[in-house]
Amino acid sequence: MPEFIPLIGEEEIKTQTRITGQMISKDYQDLDLVLVGILKGSFMFLADLSRQISIDHEIDLIGASSYEGTTSTRQIVFTKQPDLELKGRDVLLVEDIVDTGNTLLKIIEFVRLLNPRSIKICTLIDKRERREVDIDVNYSCFSLEKGFIVGYGLDYNEKYRNLPAIYDLKLQE
Ligand code: IMP
Ligand code: MG
Repeated sequence: MPEFIPLIGEEEIKTQTRITGQMISKDYQDLDLVLVGILKGSFMFLADLSRQISIDHEIDLIGASSYEGTTSTRQIVFTKQPDLELKGRDVLLVEDIVDTGNTLLKIIEFVRLLNPRSIKICTLIDKRERREVDIDVNYSCFSLEKGFIVGYGLDYNEKYRNLPAIYDLKLQE
């Protein structure tokens, strides 16, 4: 059985999400905010963050998954495109965790082609140890130096997304 070491509790998540929601509400008060969640990991954070944003906004989703192909180049597949017209609007991409940054970079490149007025990034967790690309994270609730975490939307082989708090996952040898 894997071991789950508690890392970030429910109350802490709630507090940071509230603070982030308040900052976004203030920064975007005169803008045309569209929250765009990146599936699947962001679904729980997106739902809670949206409830902490007091200004009018719309919500959309992008499905993206990355995998290592047979060559060493990393591929990203879009499994869902946004439905809303994003042209001229202020897009805030909502991620669960930014690790190497490769997934997000590809998503930003894709969203840029839809001609929004602005694109910014909000992530639940900013994990810096393995960052490979230079990405400007505008809002992050928590920073993490290293480790592999699960819960609150984050998975290991599609499991543990349902856990209400965040755990460091230790796999037994
Ligand atoms: P990146 O392209 O390396 O930044 O990968 C980002 C994606 O990898 C995230 O959106 C997650 O789906 C996944 N990921 C990276 N680190 C973790 C982790 O610690 N736990 C669960 N998923 C992770
Ligand atoms: Mg993800």
